[in-house]
Amino acid sequence: MDLDAHLGNDYPYSEEDFEKTLLTPSYRVELRNATNEQLDRFISAGMVNDWSLLSWKEVGRPYRVENMAEKRVQWENEHGRNMPVHKAWEMFNRSFHEWFVKDVPSEKKQARQDMFNHLAKFDMKEVRIALKSVIMLNLWNYAHRVKDGIWDPRGKRALFQGLHLKKPRILFLGAAEGYEAMQLYSMYPDGEIVMVDYDEYCKTDRFAQFPDTYPFLGYNSATGQSRVWYKDQMNITYIVDDIRNLPFGHEFDIVLSVGLLEHFSDEVKPEVMEWHRKFLKPGGYAILTTPRNQLQSKVYYKVMEDVMNHTYRELMDIRQMGLYVYENGFDILKHGYIKVHNGIIAQPR
Ligand SMILES: C[S@@+](CC[C@H](N)C(=O)[O-])C[C@H]1O[C@@H](n2cnc3c(N)ncnc32)[C@H](O)[C@@H]1O
Repeated sequence: MDLDAHLGNDYPYSEEDFEKTLLTPSYRVELRNATNEQLDRFISAGMVNDWSLLSWKEVGRPYRVENMAEKRVQWENEHGRNMPVHKAWEMFNRSFHEWFVKDVPSEKKQARQDMFNHLAKFDMKEVRIALKSVIMLNLWNYAHRVKDGIWDPRGKRALFQGLHLKKPRILFLGAAEGYEAMQLYSMYPDGEIVMVDYDEYCKTDRFAQFPDTYPFLGYNSATGQSRVWYKDQMNITYIVDDIRNLPFGHEFDIVLSVGLLEHFSDEVKPEVMEWHRKFLKPGGYAILTTPRNQLQSKVYYKVMEDVMNHTYRELMDIRQMGLYVYENGFDILKHGYIKVHNGIIAQPR
């Protein structure tokens, strides 16, 4: 697939591009597996048959990411107290968003050039700074653009498939840019997405600047065939508020969170699981993902600490995540892995 051929169109990709993939300067377009679902990668862990028999003693506790972003450390030194959680999310969202809008190949080239310029002047302090930025850009290029590990549309499609839903109302808790709710909507279209995040920047920048031309592979309910969906074709409401203030009752078919549960200590996790229950209709699905406890993730949160580490964060294995979900009153229908996250689909018991 040739990028130039797709530039300048409002809706640049169509059914003719099925089974193709393409690298733009900022992200991967992924339209493979329109028909061959087997190639979408959700690895069903199938590890646990009976969650009631599993204990914390057996599985241990999650790994905590302790190294914090320099800006957070500086702020706390200046203010002599812990950074408030909301402030930490504001910092995180601004710093993470910057990376999604980069022209990665050209920034990589520039960073290497800067490094060699400083080297030629034997300015070793600047060389070290430039080298760090070369390493971060290369890691981001690999993790987000080449491997597509952060958005991971193939993994998420495989995780989300097979649910019994028609025109669902989808509630996305801590929605940030809203990616996963848009992937779900594309697969189960014609309902409604309600995104919620208490950092206004998520609505005004992260979601607003999410590319209008990004193609989500989904379903055409009129024809029963696969089709490409775009952000502006979906029915989306974005609410800026604390999840604790939401006025809704049991009215959603899906309550979704991506990278939320691991940011709360064990004392608060029951409340977070309650957020997933209290807005669900009977028969609705809670869908959660959290980052995996694996070596590559530990390396990622070390190298990218100044971009990512403003808030409390745990890395879990799927059994630990499952125990949090099960012990807080959910039956687990599906548990397993996508590229960098664990995924669970559950229903209140
Ligand atoms: C780690 S992010 C979710 C991961 C996301 N996929 C991303 O790319 O950043 C968690 C989001 O939840 C939001 N959040 C955390 N606690 C919240 C609360 N009590 N109410 C509303 N939003 C909350 C934060 O502002 C943040 O944008």
